[in-house]
Amino acid sequence: MRNILVTGGLGFIGSNFIRYLLHESGYRGCLINVDFITYAGNPDNLADIEKEFKDRYRFIRCDICDRERMSKIFDEMAIDGICHFAAESHVDRSLVRPDAFIQTNIVGTFTLLELARKFRGRVELFHHVSTDEVYGSLGREGFFTEETPYRPNSPYSASKASSDHLVRAYHMSYGLPVTISNCSNNYGPYQFPEKLIPLVILNALEGKPIPVYGDGRNVRDWLYVGDHCSAIWAIMNKGRRGETYNVGGNNEMENIQVVGLICDILDEYCGMIDGGPRRRLITYVKDRPGHDRRYAIDGSKLMRELGWAPHESFATGIRKTVRWYLDNRKWVDRLISGEYKAWIKENYGTNRS
Ligand code: NAD
Ligand code: DAU
Repeated sequence: MRNILVTGGLGFIGSNFIRYLLHESGYRGCLINVDFITYAGNPDNLADIEKEFKDRYRFIRCDICDRERMSKIFDEMAIDGICHFAAESHVDRSLVRPDAFIQTNIVGTFTLLELARKFRGRVELFHHVSTDEVYGSLGREGFFTEETPYRPNSPYSASKASSDHLVRAYHMSYGLPVTISNCSNNYGPYQFPEKLIPLVILNALEGKPIPVYGDGRNVRDWLYVGDHCSAIWAIMNKGRRGETYNVGGNNEMENIQVVGLICDILDEYCGMIDGGPRRRLITYVKDRPGHDRRYAIDGSKLMRELGWAPHESFATGIRKTVRWYLDNRKWVDRLISGEYKAWIKENYGTNRS
């Protein structure tokens, strides 16, 4: 693949993936990043990459649902590979305003599939980045495998499930070369602070209450974002076409354990706050409606078939992550102060919220 279209490349995982591809993977081709810059897209995430890789990296602001403009991009940029991240990604938002989730996650994916079909003489691969949330919720025992029936419980996970089905159907119906990855919870640099881990880091730093939903005993399987990127790249290169691969970190933890650990790390790095430990800031709040109790991934297919394994444990990854937020105050401050939004408005017009 000489010209890979990366959708949603200004978001959390997409920007880490572009960084990974250009700095670490050995890939020698070009990347075309198409992102609409919603509230979650942040040009700061790749400002250095834009300067460093002028010949091999190109950013285009576009809504993936805009078929006409996307068709031009496919044509003019000679797109021959697709890695599709662009999505509305936050469960809480989907519970309040599901519209954008249906539009971007379902209609947007459909639009890209239609274009991949149109240009299928050239397109070698459509990789679809998806989530373990499509499988629903687990009890105390068991793991999600690639054979687990879909049982999505939120508008977000239902929209992702729908997009997964479309991708698979385009392989079965039209022979489109596709791969799908269903991954567990990611954490690491550049994550928007609406998600649990960056939210806790920033609130704990500033001595603000740390909201924990329900009894705090919901379980997630945490994967460092760099490991997710290497898994996607392994699947794109070596994965069997038409197949789904689960990606997990073997790091099951209750939310309250995650939150407590972050408080302790910050106490260690920055000292106590107002003379006491940060765990005092933990505040139990009303539960998320339909809150999935436990996610756990059986990632053995990916390990067995492609030899992939994560590098980071939660113990190492979370320390790296906390350190990154401490060392990148400018990124955090521009995001929180709204400075980056003003900059986007000036450079690109209004962003969709
Ligand atoms: P994110 O919210 O940080 O980034 C999403 C990006 O998509 C943003 O840059 C946004 O501007 C862009 N975007 C949104 N709508 C668009 C549109 N209509 N046209 C073009 N661009 C648009 O999300 P993320 O956490 O980086 O997740 C990326 C992908 O990975 C998503 O598909 C998500 O479902 C999947 N995923 C995420 C996780 C996780 O833990 N974050 C885990 C598994 C899978
Ligand atoms: O499992 C993969 C999914 O992980 C991805 O598909 C989603 O895009 C991504 O957002 C993430 O979904 P979650 O809902 O699991 O992530 P979130 O960070 O919102 O919440 C993690 C857990 O923490 C969840 O059980 C809810 C809880 N939580 C979250 C927030 C924001 C809290 O207790 N307090 C909070 O303030």
